[in-house]
Amino acid sequence: MADLLIGQVLSYDGNPMTEGVGVARHSARGGVLIENGRIAAVGEAEDLRRAHPKARVTDYGDALISAGFVDAHVHYPQTAMIASWGKRLIDWLNTYTFPEEMKFSDPAYAREIASRYFDLTLSNGTTTVCSYCTIHPESVDAFFGEARKRGLRAYAGKTCMDRNAPDGLTDTAKAAYDDSKRLLETWHGVDRLSYVVTPRFSPTSTPDQLAAVGALWAEHPGCLMQTHLSEQTDEVAWVKSLFPTARDYLDTYEAHGLLGPGALFGHAIYLEPREIDRIRDVDASLIHCPTSNTFIGSGLFDMDGLSTSGHRIGLATDTGGGSSFSMLRTMAAAYEVAQLRGRALHPAELWWLATQGAARSLRADDRIGNLAAGMEADIAVIDLASTPAIAQRAVRAADIWEALFPTIMMGDDRAVRAVWVNGRLI
Ligand code: GUN
Ligand code: ZN
Repeated sequence: MADLLIGQVLSYDGNPMTEGVGVARHSARGGVLIENGRIAAVGEAEDLRRAHPKARVTDYGDALISAGFVDAHVHYPQTAMIASWGKRLIDWLNTYTFPEEMKFSDPAYAREIASRYFDLTLSNGTTTVCSYCTIHPESVDAFFGEARKRGLRAYAGKTCMDRNAPDGLTDTAKAAYDDSKRLLETWHGVDRLSYVVTPRFSPTSTPDQLAAVGALWAEHPGCLMQTHLSEQTDEVAWVKSLFPTARDYLDTYEAHGLLGPGALFGHAIYLEPREIDRIRDVDASLIHCPTSNTFIGSGLFDMDGLSTSGHRIGLATDTGGGSSFSMLRTMAAAYEVAQLRGRALHPAELWWLATQGAARSLRADDRIGNLAAGMEADIAVIDLASTPAIAQRAVRAADIWEALFPTIMMGDDRAVRAVWVNGRLI
C-alpha cells in the first residue's frame, strides 16, 4: 500500500553552501509518495492525489515534511553522562567519559543505553547517526542490534585505544584489528547498517595501532573511517609531543593509512594550511560539532572559509560532548558559531547541513538526506509552531525561511510531529 504524506515540503536540487539558496525547493502544499520503503514521487499534493487515488493519505496540514535529520558524529555510549559540568577535553574524557565507557563491557547495559539513545534521537527527528562505540565489541553489537530492530540506516564502529586510557578501556594493535575485522564482517551491509573503522584519536592510539586499523581500512575501502582532529589547542600540542616527527596532527593519520575519501574528521577547528589543503584534495569530510565545541570550550569552526574552499562538511551533535540530541539545537549553535566568525548562515543552508550535507559527509546522499524519487523514505515532519514563543514569531513570517528560522533557533523535540523510517511511521 502506498502512503501519500501531504504538507509543506522542503527538498534540495543542489548544495546551497556552494550553489546558492535557490537550489532549495519548497512547496506550500506538497506531497511525498512512499512505496516499499522508498520515496516514489515528490510534487504538488493535488497532482499526486489525482495520480495515486488508492494511496493512503496522511495530511499534516501546515507542518513541514523534510528528510529525517542525519547526525554525522555521535558517541551513543555517552548518552547517560551528557551535560557533565566544568571540564575541558582531556579532563572531561578522564573524569566523565572513560568511567562511563567502562560500563559497556556489560552487554545488558550496552543494550539499555543503545535502546534509550535511539528513542531519544528518533523523538528528535534524527533517522541516521554515525556513532563511536566503546572498545568493547559488545557495545557495537548492542548499537547495531537496536538500530536493526528499528529498521534504521546507521553507522558505527568499535572505538580503538591502546594507550593513555585507563586499564579496562584499552585494547592492543592486534586486538583492535581482529575485533574490528570480525565486527565489520558481522555487521557491514546487513540491512541498512554500515561498519566504520574507528580509532578514537591519535593520543589514545600507538603508531602500531594506527597502522593496524589503517591496514584494515585499506582492505575494506568501501567502509568509512572516523576519528577526531584538532579539537582543542592542548590536544594539538599533546599530539605534537607524542608524534615528534609528524608534520602536523593530520599527518599522524596520513602516515598510517588513515587519510582518504571516506575519512571523517570530527571538530577540525585548529587546522594548519597543509591540513586544510590535503583534506580538500582527497575529499575527506570535516564534521562540525557546534554544541560540543562551545560546551567543552573548544573553539569556533571556520564554516565560511572551509565551505568556500570546497570542503565536504557534515553537521553533528557529538553527544555527549555536545549538549543535545537535537539537530535543531545543533543548527542553532552552528548559526551562532558562524555569527561569531562574521557569517550568517541562511536557514536553507542550516537545514541542508543537518540533512543532505550530513548525508553527503557520510557519502550516503544518494540514499538519505533528501526528498526525491528513489531515496529511502526516512522522513521527519516538523511543526513550525510547536511552542507559544515559536508560534507567535512564525505567524508574522513572510516566507518559508522566516517561518522556519524560529524553529531552528528555538525548537526541540516538541517540534517533531512524526517520523517515518524506511517508509514506516514509527
Ligand atoms: N576526542 C577524543 N575522544 C573524544 C570524545 O569522546 N568526545 C570529544 N568531543 N572529543 C574527543
Ligand atoms: Zn567525538
